[in-house]
Order: sequence, then C-alpha cells, then structure tokens
Amino acid sequence: MAIEAIQSRSQGIEVDAAHQACSQQQVDSLPAGDHFTDIHTHVLWGLDDGPRTVDESIALCRALVEQGVSAVAATCHQRGVFARNEPPIIRQRAAELQEILLSENVPLAIRPSAEWMIDAQTAERLDSLLPTLLTLSDRQKHALLEFPFQLPSYLPMVLQSLAKHGLVGVLAHIEKYHQLLANSARVEALVNEGFIMQINADSIAGKFGPGVMNGCRRLIQRGLVHLVASDAHSADRRPPMLKDAYENVLRWAGNETATLLFKQNPLAIFNGSEVARPKGMGWLARFRSR
Ligand SMILES: [Fe+2]
Repeated sequence: MAIEAIQSRSQGIEVDAAHQACSQQQVDSLPAGDHFTDIHTHVLWGLDDGPRTVDESIALCRALVEQGVSAVAATCHQRGVFARNEPPIIRQRAAELQEILLSENVPLAIRPSAEWMIDAQTAERLDSLLPTLLTLSDRQKHALLEFPFQLPSYLPMVLQSLAKHGLVGVLAHIEKYHQLLANSARVEALVNEGFIMQINADSIAGKFGPGVMNGCRRLIQRGLVHLVASDAHSADRRPPMLKDAYENVLRWAGNETATLLFKQNPLAIFNGSEVARPKGMGWLARFRSR
C-alpha cells in the first residue's frame, strides 16, 4: 500500500505500522492498488454534524472500510456555525479515533483535516484566520472549501489569499452549486484558475435524482472533476456510497478516469502531493457512453 507512515502530532501514534500489524489480513483482502482514499468525510465524533458518539464514529469507519476505503482525511467543519473547532481539538480527536480503530482492528488510516465554510466575513479575514484553519490531511497544501448557498462573487479574493500562503483550494461538492452543475464552461474557468474540483459519491450514485447524476456525468466526461469523495456523516443517515459511484464512473468514463478520481488523486491529497488533471472525452465517446 502506497500510504506513507503517519506520525500523529498530538499523541505520537505510528499509524501505518500499527495499521499493518493489526489489520494486514483485512487490508490484504483487497487486491493491491484497489483501495479508495476518501479526502472528505466527517468521521470525528462530537465536533460537527457528523457522528455524535464514539460508537457512531466506529460504525462509520467500518462502513468506509466495507466500501473499500483504506485512508481518510477526517474533515471536520470549521467556521460558520462550527467556529469553535480549532486545529488542536481536531488533531487530538483524530489521534484518539486512530488509536480506537487500531484496538478495534478497523484497517483505516486517519489524518486530521477540515472543511472550511467560507462566508463573506470569513473571506475578508481569511489571511488572519488561516493559522486557525486546518488543511487537508494537515499537510499545508490543500484547503477544502464550501460556501453558503451559491458560489460567491468573492471567490477571486479567496484564491488570492490561499495562493499567498502556498495553498490550493479544493471546491467541495461542486454539484451542489447549480451555476456549476449546469455550466461546464464556468467549471473549466475555475479549474484553469487553479481550483481542484470534488464531487460527492452519493450525487454520482443517484441519491439526488437523475438531473444531478447526469450533471456529474457530463462534468466528469469533460475532464473537469479531479476527485470523488464520500462526504459521509454517518453509517446510516449519510453513508459513504463510493462503490456505487465508482461503478457509474467506470461505466461513464473508463478505468483510467475512475482510478484517477477515486484512488490516485485522493491519495495524492492525502499525502500532500500534486493532483493530476483528468483527460476529457471527445464528443463521440461521450455520446456513446450515455
Ligand atoms: Fe462535508
């Protein structure tokens, strides 16, 4: 498995070594290179609208493993109504969960992470707020961003602040913004500006109907989506639906794209590396795969 050893900053847990020691059998039950990495999932209990208890966290982690996930960026909401969540508590909770998973033989590597709610107030103060915000996988490389309602006019200001600090913005669940789902030219412009595009697995799997699902398909086939993540919040209310989504992307865009979106690019973010831009399909190939 290509996941590098994770040294938890807050409690000093050598995650990957212990992960392999306690759960190698389960990890090995999947073919080599067949694991998903999930860089947007709310698995930490008691901090946001994800799991409320330790048991709910463990249940969600088990569900992720059942979906074929071996590593997650544990994205805790920050800002908006979750302004109290600061990096030390997120790092500590992630380390606690990792320790519990090891003792429960759940083969899942956890990195502390966050999803930032960027409203107008936060955007204006982003430079000064950055030290209080946690990057994806705590690598100081990628920032997972969401916005209230529609995509805001202050996006260029956000891009500028991030660039000043050497950060790349990952736009979470872009399919939730109607002006993006229906406008591939706008998505392409944002990709060219340097944003990374993430879509939720349940949207691709059809949970929100054929309109959203087909919008996702069009963006993926045009090569405008870098990665898919679960955005799971619980094992039952908002479960991870990565397997169904993967099957759809495989059918729509082929193995190379499915591998890039579910495995290679998420793993690159997990490790703090560069993501690759997917290739778009020609109109004839798109027409044939409808
Ligand atoms: Fe989320």
